[in-house]
Amino acid sequence: MRTANEDWLAPWEPSAGIGWPDRHSPAAYRALRRASSRRARAGLSLPFALRYQGRLAGQVTVDNVVRGALRSGHLGYWLDRAVAGRGVASLAVALVCDHAFGPVGLHRLQADIRPENGPSRRLVERLGFRREGLFRSYLDIDGAWRDHLGYALLAEDAPGGVLARWQAQTGH
Ligand SMILES: CC(C)(COP(=O)(O)OP(=O)(O)OC[C@H]1O[C@@H](n2cnc3c(N)ncnc32)[C@H](O)[C@@H]1OP(=O)(O)O)[C@@H](O)C(=O)NCCC(=O)NCCS
Repeated sequence: MRTANEDWLAPWEPSAGIGWPDRHSPAAYRALRRASSRRARAGLSLPFALRYQGRLAGQVTVDNVVRGALRSGHLGYWLDRAVAGRGVASLAVALVCDHAFGPVGLHRLQADIRPENGPSRRLVERLGFRREGLFRSYLDIDGAWRDHLGYALLAEDAPGGVLARWQAQTGH
C-alpha cells in the first residue's frame, strides 16, 4: 500500500538520506517494527495501525513522549489515498488524542505540519488544535530542511473529549 502511495506520502515524510525503495524493503519494515515496539514498551511512543473496512489503511503515532513536568507527545499520521476525504483520519486522530489525554495522562499533543500541507492542517484545525508558531527549517523532509507550522492541543482544550467535541460540532 505504501509503495502505491509514494507520490502521496513522500512530500511529507522524513527521508534521512535513504531512498524510498530502501525505506520500503521487507527488511527495513521489520527493523522499523522492532524499533517501534521497543519505543512503545519503553513508554516513548504510542504506535497505532488504522484499519478501515477490515484492512490496514494508515497509521497514527504519538512519538517523542516526554513525562515529568511537560507530559507531551508529537502526533504523526498518514492515510491510504484510496480512503482519503471521508473523515477516517480525523476520526482516528481524535480517538488517539482521547487515549493520550485519558489513560496515558499526557497534557499536550503537538503536530508539526508543512505550511503547504492543506489536508493535514485542516485535519488538526477541525479537531481544535491551535497554531502556535512557525519553526524555520525544522525537519528534514523529502530531502531538504522544511519550515513547519507548530500546532498543539492541550488536555483542557476539550474537557469532554476531542471526538465528542468534533462530533457535537459537525454532527458526524
Ligand atoms: C493528512 C491526511 C491524513 C488527511 O487525510 P484526509 O482524508 O484529508 O482526512 P480525513 O480522513 O479526516 O478526511 C477529511 C476530509 O473528508 C471530508 N469528509 C467527507 N465526509 C466526511 C465525514 N463523514 N466526516 C468527516 N469528514 C468528512 C472532510 O470535509 C475533509 O475534507 P477537506 O479537508 O477537504 O475539508 C492525508 O492527506 C495524508 O495521509 N497525507 C499524506 C501524509 C501526510 O501528509 N501526513 C501528515 C504529515 S503532517
